[in-house]
Amino acid sequence: MPLAAPPPVSTSSVRRLVMDLVRERSAAAETPMPPGEHGVSLARTRRFHDNPLPVLVEAYQRYGPVFSLRIFHAQVVFLVGPEANHFVTVSGADHFTWREGHFGDLIPLLGDGLLTTDGEYHRRTRRIVLPAFAKERIAASLDTMRAEIEPALQRWHDGATLDLYAWTRVLALRIAMRALFGLDPDGPLARNADAATQFEHALGFWASDYFLQVLRGPRTPWARLVEARRRLDAVVYDEIARRRRTGERGEDILSLLIDASDEEGHRLTDRNIRDQVMTLLFAGHDTTTSTVAFLFHELGRNPHELRSLLAERDAVLGDRDPTFAELMGGALPRLDLVLDETLRMYPAAWIGPRRSAKPFELAGVRVPAGIPVNYSSWASHHLPDVWGDPEAFRPDRFSPEQRGSIPKGAYIPFGGGSRICVGMRFGQLEVKAIATRILRDFTLDLQGGFSLRTRQMPTIGPRDGLPVIVRDRRRG
Ligand code: HEM
Repeated sequence: MPLAAPPPVSTSSVRRLVMDLVRERSAAAETPMPPGEHGVSLARTRRFHDNPLPVLVEAYQRYGPVFSLRIFHAQVVFLVGPEANHFVTVSGADHFTWREGHFGDLIPLLGDGLLTTDGEYHRRTRRIVLPAFAKERIAASLDTMRAEIEPALQRWHDGATLDLYAWTRVLALRIAMRALFGLDPDGPLARNADAATQFEHALGFWASDYFLQVLRGPRTPWARLVEARRRLDAVVYDEIARRRRTGERGEDILSLLIDASDEEGHRLTDRNIRDQVMTLLFAGHDTTTSTVAFLFHELGRNPHELRSLLAERDAVLGDRDPTFAELMGGALPRLDLVLDETLRMYPAAWIGPRRSAKPFELAGVRVPAGIPVNYSSWASHHLPDVWGDPEAFRPDRFSPEQRGSIPKGAYIPFGGGSRICVGMRFGQLEVKAIATRILRDFTLDLQGGFSLRTRQMPTIGPRDGLPVIVRDRRRG
């Protein structure tokens, strides 16, 4: 018996905009909005769009952990800080829906995957997907990661200049395609459709200016999204049909999804499978790409951290690559600290968009039902009253001696509770595998005059890429 799909939502941005306003009116009639900035302001909207971090931290300092800001047309409530994070992800998680919040904006590409569904449908599909992320499966994917990393490094040489962000993006998408779906990125199916490029085109929709996203018609960002989706769908549906026809299965998630059923015998339809595949490709490559780039950005700015990382790497591994147990079992503690601190400063999935399903009270502030409510790891990780000197890159914050003083809910780069990131270990493994392999032979200098600017849609990333100069460690 196929699993019943969740109710459809409109993908018309005008309709969604009108619905936002209608819901806001009825919510405000019941309960006043939390303190904050309620009027329409193009300047605030622009500032938030360019860099939301200072806007959110300032609002937290002025209004406390629960505040509202009108962004574009909509009144949005933000929950920031340890207590608020714990409430949204764990203790009060049932007050919120994901599908009705801004994750719903991703439905045109992702359909009804884990990020855009709730309740029973989500619980059942998560249970089906989870075994694919069990420890043994992830351990097995290290070989696939290595098989992609090696050739990607082949053209690196001393003095070469490259954009590390762009380099990692191609690599991470290839790893995701191969490790998660058993799709050969150079095979005829993926190559003919140029799946990697199509995926980038599709994601470009959310990176385009908000006002352009509203437009429909030829040559708009929407038209490019629809065309890219059509081509990607062809790849995924063809592969599902091929696997069903030939009975061919592998260690990948696609095989698992095709055969999966839950304890009541519910199976996934082709459409369900396509939506999960697209969601995992989306959630699984952009986040790791940005994390690799930010990690090397901070190593470039903090030479003493780079030195201790290299010393640890060389002492523990010499000129071999680490095993899965070494990467994930604490054999490289300095690397763990550097990754934790990178994800504190730049948690790629920086915002957790929801809609309140019922009213609640937090930190003495009442929040009505029916409005967009977001938590933000990025803002929460930069609060001066929680993290001393938040702009400083200090991996030792996470050392065994200091870790205990981090308040519950303060550090949430992978979310939390029953919907914590399913790909957490896969993502950590991938970042560490790429970083340790690069550092075996190379260090990376930031190109002179480079100054980091972030973009934040759909995840945080370096807006201008990460231009670096390669230094070959083997040349002495
Ligand atoms: C450094 C890498 C990653 C980071 C920082 C990250 C971060 C996050 C965060 C913060 C959430 C929760 C969002 C919220 O509460 O609103 C999340 C959810 C999710 N992530 Fe990740 N992620 C990473 C890698 C991955 C990978 C590699 C995959 C898949 C292969 C993945 C798949 C997902 C999925 C499917 C969800 C939704 C889970 C659910 O709702 O049941 N992520 N991720």
